[in-house]
Amino acid sequence: MSDWVLVTGGATRLGREISLAFAKAGWNLICHYRNSEEKAQSLCQEVTSFGVFAQALYAELENEDSCLGLYKQASEVSNHRLACIVNSASLFIPDNAHDFEEHQALQQLSVNLMAPMRFGKWLYESRLNKATNSGLDATTGSSVPKHSPSIVHILDQKVFNLNPDYFTYTVSKLALERIVSLQAQSFGPSLRVNAVSPGLIYPSGPQDLENFKIASNANLMGIPIDPKQVAQSVLFLAQNPCITGTTIKVDNGQHLVPTPRDIMFVVDQLKQNNK
Ligand SMILES: NC(=O)c1ccc[n+]([C@@H]2O[C@H](COP(=O)([O-])OP(=O)(O)OC[C@H]3O[C@@H](n4cnc5c(N)ncnc54)[C@H](OP(=O)(O)O)[C@@H]3O)[C@@H](O)[C@H]2O)c1
Repeated sequence: MSDWVLVTGGATRLGREISLAFAKAGWNLICHYRNSEEKAQSLCQEVTSFGVFAQALYAELENEDSCLGLYKQASEVSNHRLACIVNSASLFIPDNAHDFEEHQALQQLSVNLMAPMRFGKWLYESRLNKATNSGLDATTGSSVPKHSPSIVHILDQKVFNLNPDYFTYTVSKLALERIVSLQAQSFGPSLRVNAVSPGLIYPSGPQDLENFKIASNANLMGIPIDPKQVAQSVLFLAQNPCITGTTIKVDNGQHLVPTPRDIMFVVDQLKQNNK
């Protein structure tokens, strides 16, 4: 019997790569979506050809009840064999310390920070209720997960390379970065907690393709970051039982290339420098 992973925002962009990486490695998939239902359903259909089970589940992550509904459904679908939750869903809304709008700031904090905090709490509680040494779950009779259970948060190189753009988003990811250690300390030995910190992978916000092409090379390796490698790093953390409280930076060294503003806003300057 295979273990299950829940990937939030698992239908598109990085979430999709992560979903595919786990399914190709033999994990059953719960692909969470909010607006991307069609993409989530088609991804679930696609991964069944790898010989795994997959289920798409809806939730609005701004809302605690909706998060709990997702968690409960995921536990039932997986027959309590949820061995990993990957917190990839996020909101990325431009704002600044001097102009942030209260409602949008709270939305971002809810999705990027509160949802991962809640899923951690609930998965930990459910691990405490397991009779792991018997090989059987005491309440359901289902066998226990093969993999050491874990959570993987998706951060952003911005956390290690600060600039004032995308203020609330950055604050949410800074807190999530600190939470890796705090949750790992609180949840051991029942549940491991790790993170992957990517650099710029996809165009976001107002970024056009020309801007993205230049910005995605602005790292120590001078080439774009491969999302498949980011996804493989998430899978590695989920499958290595000896790692907890750890963040892997998968960003071609972008966190060591400081910029005074978000990379998308300094592309013109980079073009000038390259002339
Ligand atoms: N993109 C990059 O270059 C980059 C760089 C560094 C770090 N990251 C991090 O990597 C992760 C994935 O990035 P991404 O660019 O692939 O993500 P994204 O496209 O910005 O968002 C991923 C998904 O999050 C879901 N989502 C957003 N708000 C939600 C809400 N209120 N409730 C439920 N779901 C919600 C959406 O699902 P639906 O489509 O189903 O609505 C969306 O597709 C994020 O944590 C991001 O911070 C990304």
